[in-house]
Amino acid sequence: MMASCPRSWSPFRRHFDMRSRVLILSCCRQQYSTRTMSISTARLCKPPPRNTMRLSRVWAPLATLLGLSSVVRGLAVPAPQIRSLSINRPKPGLEPPEFAFAFDIDGVLLHEKKALPGAAQTLQYLHDHSIPFIFLTNSGGKHEHERVKELSEKLGVNFTVDNFVQSHTPFKALVHGEHGLENKTVLVTGADASKCRDIAEEYGFRNVITPGDILVAHPEAWPFDALLDTVYKDVARPLPKPLWAPGQPLEDSLKIDAIMVMHDPRDWAWEIQLFTDLLQSHDGILGTYSDRNGDPDLPNHGWQQDGQPKVYFSNSDLYWVTDFPLRRFGQGAFQHAFAGVWERITGGEHELERELYGKPYGVTYQYAEDMLRKFRLDMLTNMGHDELGDLKRVYMVGDNPDSDIAGANNHVSKYGTKWSSILVGTGVWNEQRDGMRKLIGDREPTAIQANVLEAVRWGLDNEGWKHHL
Ligand code: G3P
Ligand code: MG
Repeated sequence: MMASCPRSWSPFRRHFDMRSRVLILSCCRQQYSTRTMSISTARLCKPPPRNTMRLSRVWAPLATLLGLSSVVRGLAVPAPQIRSLSINRPKPGLEPPEFAFAFDIDGVLLHEKKALPGAAQTLQYLHDHSIPFIFLTNSGGKHEHERVKELSEKLGVNFTVDNFVQSHTPFKALVHGEHGLENKTVLVTGADASKCRDIAEEYGFRNVITPGDILVAHPEAWPFDALLDTVYKDVARPLPKPLWAPGQPLEDSLKIDAIMVMHDPRDWAWEIQLFTDLLQSHDGILGTYSDRNGDPDLPNHGWQQDGQPKVYFSNSDLYWVTDFPLRRFGQGAFQHAFAGVWERITGGEHELERELYGKPYGVTYQYAEDMLRKFRLDMLTNMGHDELGDLKRVYMVGDNPDSDIAGANNHVSKYGTKWSSILVGTGVWNEQRDGMRKLIGDREPTAIQANVLEAVRWGLDNEGWKHHL
């Protein structure tokens, strides 16, 4: 006898849930699963997900006809266990949380390519209980989509770019607006400079060149560069204008309007040479030398006082952690090397002027908070919450006192949201090696916890959130 719905007596619709490998019976109002026979209202009458369709269209009716549903389960090809962050329904009586979390990635959720214990469980819990969170990392060098895909695979949870901020994401705000760089010439670099070009173009910058483009066009600018043949030749593009040469009109020469360090450069020597050439130039025209340099009558002794390009750094971290027993240099080490050479060039008369992004800087925390607020609004509204209340508190979970903790402690939210900082011992800061001596002033965290799971438990307890994480 064909099973039917106890309420409407209409025949059940059947489909396989590949993930749970369970035959799902649904009808016009209710849904029953063979595993729990529990009642859930969420997916009434929605078509079964694409990959189950394929199987159920072929197998389910046959299985039911032959009463072989259990056999079908055995046949199902297990789909990868990535659990999707689909929309939850508000649990009755559960007020939308007025708090949220912000997660650093390296040293908190991942060690380079490996997920840290408790990371996936913690994020899945926050999702299942509709507690908003955002990823706020100083790493970069890949487009947000690519990073989010990798993170989802490493943690086995599907994330989106809607709550993901990496070191150069806030550079998007430099494309348009009064000092917009959309149609200016921007020089970008990173571990893979040509990849950084792709990202910058995706952000909307139209004239993007790399140090490799210049070196391939003018190898004499840095003779004997080993990377010339091995790295640059294959990815370099022709320069939009020739390099200036004596007698050539300035307006016909290559002019750089901004330098963007989007990720950790690899060719420090050539790039420090190139960037200091540009900072000594007239108006960013490479190959020229400003006659204001070193002029004591001018501000900053005339250094960087002649229309030279601004230098944007997306991350000032000196260290980050990998599986190597000692901490590794981050983009901040390159910045210090660059600033050191500049100080030598200017005879210490002038410190390198630069635009600093990434944690701990306010511009990045405010960018992340704006994105978190929008993500929270969208998520809770989609869930059917209409009374949202304001986002009152954010818990920043990080492994680096200089960036994660100092940034959250110093962040002054334009909405009055209170940011707390939770330091974990799974990354840059190591209690055995560093102890507490560095955790003073704005490096003093609100709390110290062993790992991300404990950090979130601490935050939830602090909120009086009944949980069984
Ligand atoms: O600066 C290195 C960078 O990889 C750190 O990343 O996620 O710890 O901010 P994160
Ligand atoms: Mg970190």
